[in-house]
Amino acid sequence: MVLLALTYKKLMDRDFRVLAVIEKEMSKYEYVPIEVIERRLRMPSSHVAMSLQKLNQLKLIRRRLGDYTGYRLTYMGLDVLALHSLVERGILHALGDKLGVGKESDVYSGLTPGGERVIVKFHRVGRTSFQKIVRVRHYAAERPYSSWLQLAKLAGQREFRALEELYRVGALVPKPLGYSRHAVVTEYIEGVELYMYKDAMEPESMLKDIIDTLRKAYVEVGIVHGDLSEYNILVVIEDDKERPYIIDWPQYVEKEHPSAEQLLRRDVEYVARFFRKRYRVDVDTEELIRYVKGEIEHI
Ligand SMILES: Nc1ncnc2c1ncn2[C@@H]1O[C@H](COP(=O)(O)OP(=O)(O)OP(=O)(O)O)[C@@H](O)[C@H]1O
Ligand SMILES: [Mg+2]
Repeated sequence: MVLLALTYKKLMDRDFRVLAVIEKEMSKYEYVPIEVIERRLRMPSSHVAMSLQKLNQLKLIRRRLGDYTGYRLTYMGLDVLALHSLVERGILHALGDKLGVGKESDVYSGLTPGGERVIVKFHRVGRTSFQKIVRVRHYAAERPYSSWLQLAKLAGQREFRALEELYRVGALVPKPLGYSRHAVVTEYIEGVELYMYKDAMEPESMLKDIIDTLRKAYVEVGIVHGDLSEYNILVVIEDDKERPYIIDWPQYVEKEHPSAEQLLRRDVEYVARFFRKRYRVDVDTEELIRYVKGEIEHI
């Protein structure tokens, strides 16, 4: 079992309550003073002390020593709080293997109470530099003073809400199942990343499906993906047909955003170039962009 799941199993109700208080007070303190933690919890202070020591050992919180003693959550602390909420609400039953460490997330497989395989994506913001965050996450630029905690939660909320809207209008995206804080649970797409998928049967039709998803996103939801490439597309064979699912949406921008036009152009150019190079599919990028924006009805 992975470290996160093992750590989760060691916790009891009391520990989650202590973590939740620290999380809440972190909107006011970088390190929450121990007196504040004690005051917020209706619990004997010896229990609080035991719990804090345990959480610190498990690296779910970090202690600050100095002129005052205080604690802050670590990413793993935030992870277990999110897991707890997802489990309590019946969205998730078990956490499986870690599938990957992305630039801005850790992705795990998981199981629902009904036994369906799902993806649990924990957003990580601040793993790279702030400049990098701003480059792909335009919403971060509008909130330069936010903490890693607020930005990670915002990324989770944005990705979940975008997926909900996209799924509702029939775009090819994983079905969103729930979220808590920075953790988003979606259906598991049993597919291969486009860049790994070698011998497409019908490349033109796949490109058309991708462009149709971008059009639904733009016209019906009002957003631009903003980080599209052959790495954020999963190809699945359904009923003998290749279906390209577009994943990884937290950095989307609204179509009214000043960078929307440029990002849409980049997204379309990336996929068009990929299909041109690998499959010699000849397309007119300008026409694709006009189609995505709803300016023409056919391509
Ligand atoms: N719904 C899903 N079904 C199956 N695999 C998935 C799903 N979502 C994500 N993955 C896998 O996890 C990887 C990372 O996911 P995602 O692109 O959403 O996160 P990321 O933080 O942007 O990672 P990276 O920085 O590597 O792009 C994907 O490339 C894919 O292999
Ligand atoms: Mg990605």
